[in-house]
Amino acid sequence: MSLALDLPRLETTLRLPAQDERQQLLQGLLQPAARIDSKYFYDDRGCELFTDICRLDEYYPTRTEAQIFSENREAIAAHLPSNPQWIDLGCGDCSKTLKWLSAVDPARVIGVDIAGEFLHNSLSAVARRHPQLECVGVVSDFTQHLELQELLAERPGNPPVFFYPGSSIGNFEPRAAMRFLKRIRAHCSAHGRLLIGADLLKPREILEAAYADASGVTAAFNLNILNVVNRELDADFQPELFRHCARFDEAHRRIEMRLVARERHSVRLARHTRRHFDAGEHILTEYSHKYSLEEFSALLAASGLRCSHYWTDPQAWFGVFLAEPA
Ligand code: AVJ
Repeated sequence: MSLALDLPRLETTLRLPAQDERQQLLQGLLQPAARIDSKYFYDDRGCELFTDICRLDEYYPTRTEAQIFSENREAIAAHLPSNPQWIDLGCGDCSKTLKWLSAVDPARVIGVDIAGEFLHNSLSAVARRHPQLECVGVVSDFTQHLELQELLAERPGNPPVFFYPGSSIGNFEPRAAMRFLKRIRAHCSAHGRLLIGADLLKPREILEAAYADASGVTAAFNLNILNVVNRELDADFQPELFRHCARFDEAHRRIEMRLVARERHSVRLARHTRRHFDAGEHILTEYSHKYSLEEFSALLAASGLRCSHYWTDPQAWFGVFLAEPA
């Protein structure tokens, strides 16, 4: 379906009807081990709080990746096909992509994001600043399905460069990450590329501080998801009855963010559905997997991609990987 809004062109490929989305959310909360999908963090307030997180002293990933990009931009761009179709997965305000335009000189920019109105506004801003650049927005939950073949086929001479920064790949469990990377691989002709950021393993104290900052911004971000769920389901979560918890699970090499019930209570989830929580019982809200450089290259390889180059910071806290079809 194509939406006839202002320029730039915007397409919508959201597939699950709202009712099914709500049903999935409800099912997750009714499991013995309750969980809420991380995508529910990002309402307007959640986006604001995430921006604040990125500025925290303790939250190193955003600034470390930005530093790797700014120090190696020309070197990275030199390995990309010329005039590619630049696909920003989860483009948000497009600020990361904007920095690449002069080095990469893309034939067009395709911004993909789940938040349609936000996407339209940010791409309009890009289009205004770069009137010669073709901008296309795709409203899609690309973590569930990626269907850009037709769009990419409009420009057969311009290979795709998939840009997936920020270590969002860490939200997936390794097997799901592989399925997702394989879908990207399937969109890459011989000259297609993937430029992806991944957070690396480091001492537990540093990881846990990044997800449980002293000023409580991440706690507010985590608890805000309950307000989103209240709106989505017409539920009656009281955020003050939960506390934020972030711990590094050594065995699974991931930060687990949870909301822990402070006391025994029950929550109305939907019209005739309640969920009981014991004191100390928790809801899982996010995984953030951490990789070694070797493990991440192996994950790419298992997905049919070959890591041709990677860049890191002096402490090797964050990795930027360039991959091509194997
Ligand atoms: C946006 C998924 C990369 O996992 O570090 C930040 C989200 N959660 N603080 C991450 C997040 C808590 C972030 N990603």
